[in-house]
Amino acid sequence: WFGHVTEAPRDPILGVTEKYLADTNPMKINLGVGAYRDDSGQPWVLPSVREAERRVSGSHFMEYLPIGGHRQFCEDSVRLAYGEHAEVIKGKQVAMLQSLSGTGSCRLFAEFQGRWMKGSKIYIPQPTWSNHHNIFKDAHVHEVLYPYYKPETRGLDLEGLLDCLSKAPAGSVVMLHACAHNPTGVDPTTEQWQQISGLMREKRLFPFFDMAYQGFATGDCERDAQALRIFLQDGHRLALSQSYAKNMGLYGQRVGCFSIVCDSPSEAKAVESQMKALARPMYSNPPLHGALLVHQILSDPSLKRQWFGEVKLMADRIISMRTLLRENLEQLGNPLSWNHITDQIGMFCFTGLTPEQVNKLTNEHSIYLTRNGRISMAGVNTGNVSQLAQAIHSAREE
Ligand code: LMR
Repeated sequence: WFGHVTEAPRDPILGVTEKYLADTNPMKINLGVGAYRDDSGQPWVLPSVREAERRVSGSHFMEYLPIGGHRQFCEDSVRLAYGEHAEVIKGKQVAMLQSLSGTGSCRLFAEFQGRWMKGSKIYIPQPTWSNHHNIFKDAHVHEVLYPYYKPETRGLDLEGLLDCLSKAPAGSVVMLHACAHNPTGVDPTTEQWQQISGLMREKRLFPFFDMAYQGFATGDCERDAQALRIFLQDGHRLALSQSYAKNMGLYGQRVGCFSIVCDSPSEAKAVESQMKALARPMYSNPPLHGALLVHQILSDPSLKRQWFGEVKLMADRIISMRTLLRENLEQLGNPLSWNHITDQIGMFCFTGLTPEQVNKLTNEHSIYLTRNGRISMAGVNTGNVSQLAQAIHSAREE
């Protein structure tokens, strides 16, 4: 039956973890997947999550959720993203559904686009998270890449981006990373977001925001929602994917929210019913535990405040590791410029290492990272930063 089945290539991100786990070197470092680690290299369960767990323990468990998931969780989520007093929420214009974290929301959106925005293409930033390509391909939605990153400046290619989007046919969908762009760590400034939003309104382009890192760009969940809120203020209708994997450390719980801002309550009702129609044959209904935890945190003002503080703590630790890595490289006398390590934001650093240099890091130093030269700063700590700097220094010397 299966003689014709060929082996699929390893996933560019999760495949790195597989290789890391197989390495027996005790000094190995995993900077592949974007998963937060504390300064001793251990996963961190947020104290606010532990408290939420204590509160939900023994209650509500084991029953099915509805297809759309935990309703109050969804309402908490859209308030977190669109703003406590967002007009579109008051106006009941938001169709929403609990999703299987970021990938699950993106996949639902891709399916929705394929079914209800027929013939439209998805414009995806170049580069982007590798799984975005898989998601839209599997949903049979054609992708077009738009310029995003300029290697020469290690910054945003605003001109290229605006030029490409200005030529996109009306009705196209544009994927935007809401904050902490993965993998580049380069976000548009407030003014640049306003420019992008203005152009997209003028050209009738539909924004799809992927927000996987709310809180990781600036350490402030409210500030990290600014792009989304600029677009809302400009009157866009839009779709949004939210994930709690990173900012609540709920990676394995697969908890997220998928929402679409519509023109009216009746439109939102119809859209939401179609979102459910997509979810039901795929996975029936989402898991319960993570949604209960998030709901506990977001619906209790003091626990929510505590959580905000914990997100900031994670973001600040990453920022301090950026400074330390740059200092270590400069102290080694490396002649190249390393400003970008501290200029970039979020969980990742787009180092500029070539695939050959990445291979060197992995094969000679047991340091694991993706082949595009992205390192997860969340895996860097005071104990391994000098080893990492040494390895980068020797790989970049030749
Ligand atoms: C990453 O980019 O490392 C994360 O989003 C994890 C993943 O699923 O790829």
